[in-house]
Amino acid sequence: MARISPSLLGADFSRLGEEVAGTERAGADMIHLDIMDGHFVPNISFGPAVVGTVDRLTDLFLDVHLMLTEPEKYFESFVKAGADAITFHIEVHPDPVKQAKQLHAMGVGAGISLNPDGRAEQILPYLKHFEFLLVMTVFPGFGGQSLIPAALDTVRSARAYIDQNKLATEIIVDGGVDASNAPEVVAAGADILVMGTAFYSSHDRAALVRSVHELRR
Ligand code: DX5
Ligand code: ZN
Repeated sequence: MARISPSLLGADFSRLGEEVAGTERAGADMIHLDIMDGHFVPNISFGPAVVGTVDRLTDLFLDVHLMLTEPEKYFESFVKAGADAITFHIEVHPDPVKQAKQLHAMGVGAGISLNPDGRAEQILPYLKHFEFLLVMTVFPGFGGQSLIPAALDTVRSARAYIDQNKLATEIIVDGGVDASNAPEVVAAGADILVMGTAFYSSHDRAALVRSVHELRR
């Protein structure tokens, strides 16, 4: 069964409470929170205060994606705000073991992310330290872009490595995922699909969640 992590970036922020309640009601497995610093990516989103608000609105697992140049400076703020797992980018920490250990010491899951122009070999040696690998299938910074199919090669390589080495790391795919490409993304090896635009613009979110839950690798 594949799982779905709707990206709140695609929600209507004037109705944040209803959007979070609707995400839970639709049966989503977790909520993806995109944090952008205007430096690592050319956009700014929201910070720990909004994550804290979401945490008060739901018991769902909060999957916080830090698109920041200095993610470790903010680990503590996001953990205090209610993050259950924090993902940062290998592009800013090419040897990310120390940061994974910091996150574990704070009691949250650790995720490592790779941009679509990265090579799987950059991350494979580190996967044993992480609960999550977040493969970007768009260049981060904005919701609503189209999935870059070549980035699925990274998913295939990571899937093979995780299975061969019997690791517990789960693969999250983020960027341009929708109902039509979800079967291919899961077939490539994804465990969890992030959907921003596709989820929040869907007229039947519960049916979308069910269709993801029916997918098998
Ligand atoms: C991109 C973010 C993604 C994005 C997903 O910078 O990391 O999580 O918001 O949104 P969609 O599903 O619209 O690509
Ligand atoms: Zn994201």
